[in-house]
Parts: sequence; structure tokens; C-alpha cells
Amino acid sequence: MLKDLGSLPAGFPMPVLMVGTYGDNDTVNVMNVAWGGICGMDKIALNLAPDRKTLANIQARKAFTVALADAAHIKEADFFGIATGNKMPDKFARSGLTAKKSANVDAPVIQEFPLTMECRLEEVRECFGEMRVVGTIVNVVADEKVLDEKGKVDAGKLNAVMFDQFRNGYYSVGEKIAQAWNAGAALMKG
Ligand SMILES: Cc1cc2nc3c(=O)[nH]c(=O)nc-3n(C[C@H](O)[C@H](O)[C@H](O)COP(=O)(O)O)c2cc1C
Repeated sequence: MLKDLGSLPAGFPMPVLMVGTYGDNDTVNVMNVAWGGICGMDKIALNLAPDRKTLANIQARKAFTVALADAAHIKEADFFGIATGNKMPDKFARSGLTAKKSANVDAPVIQEFPLTMECRLEEVRECFGEMRVVGTIVNVVADEKVLDEKGKVDAGKLNAVMFDQFRNGYYSVGEKIAQAWNAGAALMKG
């Protein structure tokens, strides 16, 4: 029997995006963002509450990075969603992770995450009480450990995690089960 659950952001999975920015004096900050995703061939959108340090940093530096959290760093990833750079200036330092400046945008690349999108800010606009940030992905850097023999990212090697807003769980991404634009092709016939 189907039951009504009311209005929920019931998409699953939601991503666990690690948004890296610079604040004053090039202080590195990283924030956990699940309300975000790819919204064009080279665009990414983030929904940020107006008080986030990350938002102020993005507006000041016109750039950010977005890394995919992996299972090995779930503790740090969750910490980035609990602590705020507004009240904890050494938020990133406390994580024990390391950062280097992106070669392409004015934002840090966190070295321990397997894949990072380097983004140029395109627009920030108020959207239903939250701030919608859209950036252009100008480059992707990936650890060679997650690449296949042709140099493409092998999603199975990312050990990426996803977020479940129903019960606030983090899940690991499972096995590949089929090929896209192919698994349904048989139904095209006849
Ligand atoms: C799993 C998870 C997902 C989150 N997703 C978002 C989000 O999409 N947008 C948002 O504004 N805050 C989100 N948060 C809360 C921020 O990460 C949190 O307020 C953080 O302290 C902000 O950091 P900052 O102020 O240093 O930028 C999320 C937190 C967690 C744990």
C-alpha cells in the first residue's frame, strides 16, 4: 500500500560534495553540500543557506572547488558539515587534510579526495529563501588511482559516498549493474 509522506526532498541518492574555498588570508575552508549537483554539460549548482562561510568566500573570490567525498574520509566529510568557518577559523586545519591552490581557479584543491572539480563562479541568486550558486567547471583533477587504462574515471574506484536525507545516512556506492543508454535498448525494438 502506498502512503503519503508529505513534502520531502525525496531524491536518492544525494551527493556528498566537498566545497573548497579561500577566506581571508587564504584560509582554506571546506563545507559539506548535499543540496547540489550537475546542472549542465559544464555547470554545477549549489544550494547554500545565506549564513554559510562558504557563500561569503565564494562571493569574494569568485571561485570554488567541488570534491567528491570518499568512504576513507567520511569522518572529515561529516565534520565539514557540522563545523562552520564563521566560528572556527581553523576548521580545515583541524581536519588534518591538506590543500594546494588550484592551478586554474582561486580556490583550494583538497589533496586527499579522489576527484575535484575546479569551478569559476557564474552567478549567485536568491532562490526561494536560499542562495543558488552556479559555477562553470573549468577543469577536473583526479587521483590516477581512480583512472582506468584509458585515463577515464572509473566510478567503481572512487569509493564515493552518497547521502540519504530520509534518515541522515551516508551510504557507499555499490557495484555497477548495467551500461547506460544500453540496458533499456532492447525495449526500443518492435
Ligand atoms: C550531509 C550534510 C549535507 C549538507 N548540505 C548542505 C547544503 O546543501 N546546503 C547548506 O547550506 N548546508 C548544508 N549542510 C550544512 C553545512 O555543511 C554546515 O552548515 C557547515 O557548517 C557550513 O560550513 P561553513 O559555514 O564553514 O561554510 C549540510 C550538512 C551535512 C552534514
